[in-house]
Amino acid sequence: MEAILLVGGQGTRLRPLTISTPKPMLPVAGFPCTSHQIALAASAGIDRIVLGTSYRAEVFEEYFSGQDLGVEIRYAVESEPLGTGGAIRNAAEQLTCGPDDPVVIFNGDVLTGLDISDLVSKWREARADVALYLTRVEDPRAYGLVPTDAAGRVLEFKEKPTTPEEIVTDQINAGCYVFKRSVIDRIPAGQVVSVERETFPELLSTGATVIGVVDDGYWLDLGTPLAFAQGSADLVRGIAPSPLLAGRTGDAVIHDSAVVHDTAIVSGGTYVGAHVVIGENAIVDASVIYDGVTIGSGARVVRSIVSTNASIGSQSSITDTVIAENASLGAHNELNFGARVFPGAEISDSAIRFSSDR
Ligand code: GTP
Repeated sequence: MEAILLVGGQGTRLRPLTISTPKPMLPVAGFPCTSHQIALAASAGIDRIVLGTSYRAEVFEEYFSGQDLGVEIRYAVESEPLGTGGAIRNAAEQLTCGPDDPVVIFNGDVLTGLDISDLVSKWREARADVALYLTRVEDPRAYGLVPTDAAGRVLEFKEKPTTPEEIVTDQINAGCYVFKRSVIDRIPAGQVVSVERETFPELLSTGATVIGVVDDGYWLDLGTPLAFAQGSADLVRGIAPSPLLAGRTGDAVIHDSAVVHDTAIVSGGTYVGAHVVIGENAIVDASVIYDGVTIGSGARVVRSIVSTNASIGSQSSITDTVIAENASLGAHNELNFGARVFPGAEISDSAIRFSSDR
């Protein structure tokens, strides 16, 4: 079985982390989201995956070349981003399956334990053109709503509803689909197309069989810094499943080469990368600490992402904050609630006490 992974987006909500690294390649619990997805796909019997790349396409090829992933990887590079539908059409040029075969398609920033085989079976049973994986969320306003009838047929697509009347269901598009290959081939080639806003509504209007399959298992869209840190912590604690972390989950995953002082507390699903140094009495909770980071004594890091080779000075405190690579935050600073420090920035001691109302 073949799959397409959509990994060409700019990841603007995760800036500045995505200036140098595309969102699907940012490590979550030590592995890029794309690696977790490839492992999930392989465990469901998928043996050939086309990565639809655009933004910073070279990062994918550099990382995956030479790795034995148990699946064959192909790249479909868009010189100009073609949107989600255009990207699927472009990637389909590299598929080898027949017109009636299923093709599994994944958004690159979705963390899930979805039973892909079950989604494909439901697609087959319903003789569907497209089967969409749906999940339920408490507040669906930021998502694409997908109401279905009792038999699971999709009734309409409502992107990002704004008024209470528009919130007709708590079922949302979870960013994974099974398409009949011939349906992909009908998406216009070489132009920008949104699968959510154009392809899906058009399929409904032409009477295609589009079904929604609600799965209440783990699902998280890693699009924002808070969600990204949460997804990583969920993987580390085993709340989010990934074949890559099997048998290694716990309150924290700490790379063998990291040096953590005996009095430091590292918990809440924190991931600590290679060559990290964490000082005396530091507290690091539910955070993502990339390779080469230094966290000074008495520092406090909560629900934050600290990127490669950055440093946090002693007695500084950061919560819900992103520190990009090579940035250095001096001692006695405080950053809260969505603060973002850009790559290479240098903040001197006692310079910032930033706290905004959420
Ligand atoms: P934001 O800019 O923060 O919204 O992130 P994003 O650029 O990743 O956009 P979004 O989360 O809406 O994209 C959903 C998925 O589709 C992600 O996995 C993107 O990588 C992917 N994607 C979005 N646009 C394109 C595109 O033009 N080409 C390709 N190949 N993939 C895309």
